[in-house]
Amino acid sequence: MAAKIIDGKGIAGDIREEVRVAAQELAERHVVPGLATVLVGDDPASATYVRSKQRACEKAGIQSRDIRLEASIEESELLSTVSELNADPEIDGILVQLPLPSHMDPQRVILTIDPAKDVDGFHPVNLGKLLSGEETFYPCTPHGIIVLLERAGVTVEGRHVVIVGRSNIVGKPLAALLMQKRAGANATVTVCHSRTANLAEHTRRADILVAAAGQRAFVTEDMVGEGAVVVDVGINRVEDPEAKKGYRLVGDVDYEPAAAKASMITPVPGGVGPMTIAMLLQNTVHSARNRANG
Ligand code: GUN
Repeated sequence: MAAKIIDGKGIAGDIREEVRVAAQELAERHVVPGLATVLVGDDPASATYVRSKQRACEKAGIQSRDIRLEASIEESELLSTVSELNADPEIDGILVQLPLPSHMDPQRVILTIDPAKDVDGFHPVNLGKLLSGEETFYPCTPHGIIVLLERAGVTVEGRHVVIVGRSNIVGKPLAALLMQKRAGANATVTVCHSRTANLAEHTRRADILVAAAGQRAFVTEDMVGEGAVVVDVGINRVEDPEAKKGYRLVGDVDYEPAAAKASMITPVPGGVGPMTIAMLLQNTVHSARNRANG
């Protein structure tokens, strides 16, 4: 059986159009949504992600402010920049691209962001609200995965979702969102990680298998149950002399053999990645709407 490919790019495109319409309505009320992106250092992958986010903002009618800081600056300088953005009435969302240089503490930086402008959903106040089932800014990748499944016609209610990876950005918040007692959630969740014994035994039992391990080909064919829905969150660069840029992107799933067993699968690129950006835009417009409604 060949798996149906879940079109993340197309679904994200629909959401971006919805966001554009919402942003236009706000602009007519003289509230132009604004997102500040902060990039510290010049990591090429991070620079590419930030550029994609800014371009998506432009197309959606969200003003983006591009802040770039040298990798060598003191952490205190970054904290001051964030505080200024907190106080800036034109900025609805603040995104500090991670990872940060090793001499900085990402948690301290995240704590400095005003939770009302935390469109990444990384602030402990927002993560706490998420865990207790309150509406708030949800982290973009896990929220994007849930919306992607929903719009692709995959029900999570009552089904067994196995997540491989326990990061603060994906695994942990995704588990918390999926287990909530509400429509569109109500899943049974297993979280596996690098110390899980007999990993394949767990993953093979998944109705929906989410690969968020951060390692190429981590999820192999023997780990996928017949007919499972496979969601690949990985973005790994592999050298490819034939590619224009000298590399291509692959996920965390050994794609071809896994796709032969799965009923549905998300591709890389064009799966979860575009959804992350769509959710960021949605959060930013949501924040601007909060500003407009005082
Ligand atoms: N680095 C990798 N993913 C993300 C993300 O969603 N937000 C931020 N700020 N940094 C990231």
